[in-house]
Amino acid sequence: MSIKTVISGTGHFIPPKIVTNFDLEKLFNTSDKWIQQRTGIKERHYAEPGTGTSDLAYQASLKAIKSAEIDKTEIEFIIAATLSPDHYFPGIGVQVQAKLGLSNIGALDIRNQCSGFIYALSVADQYIKTGTYKKILLVAAEVQSSNLDYSDKGRDMAVLFGDGGGAVILEPGIDSDRSILSTHLFSDGNNVKKLWMETPSSKEKPTFSYDMIDSKRCYPKMNGRYVFINAVEKMPEAVWAALKHNNLTIDDVDHLIPHQANDRISLMVAKKLGIPVPKVIRNISRFGNTTAASIPIALDEALLEGRIKKGDIIVLTAFGSGFTWGSAVIRW
Ligand code: COA
Repeated sequence: MSIKTVISGTGHFIPPKIVTNFDLEKLFNTSDKWIQQRTGIKERHYAEPGTGTSDLAYQASLKAIKSAEIDKTEIEFIIAATLSPDHYFPGIGVQVQAKLGLSNIGALDIRNQCSGFIYALSVADQYIKTGTYKKILLVAAEVQSSNLDYSDKGRDMAVLFGDGGGAVILEPGIDSDRSILSTHLFSDGNNVKKLWMETPSSKEKPTFSYDMIDSKRCYPKMNGRYVFINAVEKMPEAVWAALKHNNLTIDDVDHLIPHQANDRISLMVAKKLGIPVPKVIRNISRFGNTTAASIPIALDEALLEGRIKKGDIIVLTAFGSGFTWGSAVIRW
C-alpha cells in the first residue's frame, strides 16, 4: 500500500480591474504593438488599493475548498507562495489561516518567486506521502501592481506583471492512479541580481529609506534578455529530468503548463521540447505574469474549460528569480 498525493480541488481568483496595454501607453513610452509582439500580453488585472495578496489568496482558497468538496475545518496545514506579501513580515500563510477562521494548524510561507508553486507542491507532496497531513491548502498569490516603476525606466518590468491568486487542495490517495508523479527543483544563487528587488534590505541601515525610493532601488529589476535565455534553457531541462524519472516521453504528455512569464518563452520551451502548441496551456494574454500564481490559475482555468480529462499527464514547469526553476508531473 503506498500513499500518493492527489489534487482534489482547484480554484483561482483574479481582481476585477482590467488594465490594457493602451492604459499603460498613457503612463510611459510603450505601445500595445510592442507589448503584444515581445510578450503576448494584451491586458492584466490589478488589485485596488486596500486589497492585499492575502485577500486574493483567501478568495482563491475558498474556491479550491469548494471544488474539493471539503469543509475548511478539515484543512490540516497551509502552504502559501508569494513574492509580494501584504507585509515585510509575517507572511501571507498566517493571514489566509486567520481569514479562513482556522486555528491551531501550521502555515508555511514559500519564497521562491515564479517557481513558488512548484516548490510548494513539492513540499506538500512530501507531507502527504509521509502521512503527516491529510488535507493541505496550497495557495499562491501576488499583488505586484503596487510596486512597479511606471516610468520609462521601469517599462520593461511594468508591462509584464499582473495580480491574481490560485489554490489547490492536496489529499492522500491510497494506490490511486491519480497523483503527483514527481517534482524536480533546481536553483542557482549566482544570479540573484539578474532578477530582484534590491530593497528594502536588512543589509542597509535603516532597512527602509527615502533614498531607496528616490534611487528606484525599491522596484523589481531584471536583465530581461539574460532571464529569457536562461528560462528557455532551464525549463526544458527540468521537464526532461521529470520525463526521464517517470519513464515517459514527450508524446505521453497531454498538457504542458509553463509558468506564464512571456508567451515567447512558453512557445520557445514548447519548441525545444517538441510538444505541439495546442498542448501548451497559455493565458498570459489576459493576465500577464502573475508569478507564483500563474500555474495554479492556468491549471484551474484549463479544468473549468474541460481541457483536462481523467488520466491525462500534465507537466508543470517554472523559472524565475533566484534563479529557481523546476518541474512537476501529475497524472490527473
Ligand atoms: N515598451 C517599449 N519598448 C520597450 C519596453 C516597453 N515596455 N521595454 C523595453 N523596451 C525597449 C528597450 O528599451 C530596448 O530599446 P533599445 O533597443 O532602444 O535599447 C528594446 O525595447 C529592446 O529591449 P530588450 O530588453 O532587448 O527586448 P526583449 O526583446 O528582450 O524584450 C522583455 C524584453 C522584458 C519582454 C524580455 O526580455 C523578457 O520577457 N524577458 C524575460 C522576462 C521574464 O520572464 N521575467 C520574469 C521571469 S519569470
